[in-house]
Amino acid sequence: MGMIENNKKILKFPKDFLWGVSTSAYQIEGGIANDWSRWEKSEVRIKKLEKEGKNPDDFICGQACDSYNRYAEDAKLAKGLNCGAYRLGIEWSRIEPEEGKWDRKEIEHYRKVLENLKANNLKVVLTLWHWANPTWLAESGGWSNKKTIEHFLRYSELIVKELGDLVDYWVTINEPMMHVANGYIISKWPPNQKNFFKAHKTFKNLVKAHEISYGIIHDRYPEAQVGLTMLANYFEPARKWCPVEVIYAYLANHFWNDKFLKKLKGKFDYVGVDYYFHDRLVWHPPFKRNFDKKITDMGWEIYPKGIYYVLKNYKKFNKPLFIMENGIADRDDNQRSKFIIDHLKYVHQAISERVNVSGYFYWSLLDNFEWADGFGPKFGLYKVDRKTFERIARPSAKVYAGICKNNIIKISNSQFT
Ligand code: BGC
Repeated sequence: MGMIENNKKILKFPKDFLWGVSTSAYQIEGGIANDWSRWEKSEVRIKKLEKEGKNPDDFICGQACDSYNRYAEDAKLAKGLNCGAYRLGIEWSRIEPEEGKWDRKEIEHYRKVLENLKANNLKVVLTLWHWANPTWLAESGGWSNKKTIEHFLRYSELIVKELGDLVDYWVTINEPMMHVANGYIISKWPPNQKNFFKAHKTFKNLVKAHEISYGIIHDRYPEAQVGLTMLANYFEPARKWCPVEVIYAYLANHFWNDKFLKKLKGKFDYVGVDYYFHDRLVWHPPFKRNFDKKITDMGWEIYPKGIYYVLKNYKKFNKPLFIMENGIADRDDNQRSKFIIDHLKYVHQAISERVNVSGYFYWSLLDNFEWADGFGPKFGLYKVDRKTFERIARPSAKVYAGICKNNIIKISNSQFT
């Protein structure tokens, strides 16, 4: 329940609620050679962008945010936001640039990065795999090849051994369904395929990889918190009276949000929930009919209540839930503060209905490289100058810092409902 102050309702979050910001290795570090960087520079990709009248340079990750060199500054920014945790990734292609060859220098680099987070009193949330593969791995078929499971295990073992003492929460795999769908069904991302058979194999291999990695981490650190992130969409039938659409929404929820987790049979200590999308489904092409009244710079509908529904849906897994990503592309920063507060209002509602939500991480600390959409979308609480890499706080950074500090949000009359 909330208190009222100056006509505003104050919603308090639980004691020990974990506030954080999320990032990923490829999107911020810079100077990485992997399957994505190879694709971005490929002739076919460049020609396609040129044909669309776009400048290919805006779609090449290159130096990204230069966080490989500026990691200490980034940690300070997260600390300055009063966050208790920072989510970052390890770039596999740095650790194992050639099959079976570990790069000690890079392992040491990541040790320094994590130690520095600890020195700033930040809990470390570490992602092992966030969509990007070393090129040698991609060449051997990537995740559609069963052998990749073994490679991932060796890589997990190494990271656990070398860095495990510095990790508070493990994210084995980021949003597996996105890789399956974009990489193997609609061909939007590397490896740019349209092959249901391979998509299915990839799904199965990712399930297995998580399970074994979960075991490896627990063998060494029995108390470790090991989970993964799911891109959790809120699907609803466009017309609740239409049985086909009701079934369609049910199936979409089952296959997209739940199936991967169900396959893991409880082998996760928490679920990382990434919420961005609300989809009203219709039974005929194009199968979605969003009204898109309020949208982000990505063209995505803003629908804060959806976060409540996806949290309620995941309650059945009986594990702590962390919002590991929620954010908005908002170049002018005139929607971001409200976006965060509106979503948190519904996170709070879920908590008050006994859904075990233990943390919220805003995506993202910085304007970063937004995959196939390049540098256009601006998700950051901090703007990044593309030439100097200077980080500049947006007004919403102050708002988020206040929320993290006080562990509360204030809701105005109009937002009471
Ligand atoms: C991904 C991020 C991405 C964000 C915004 C998430 O699905 O994990 O890497 O930048 O969405 O599109």
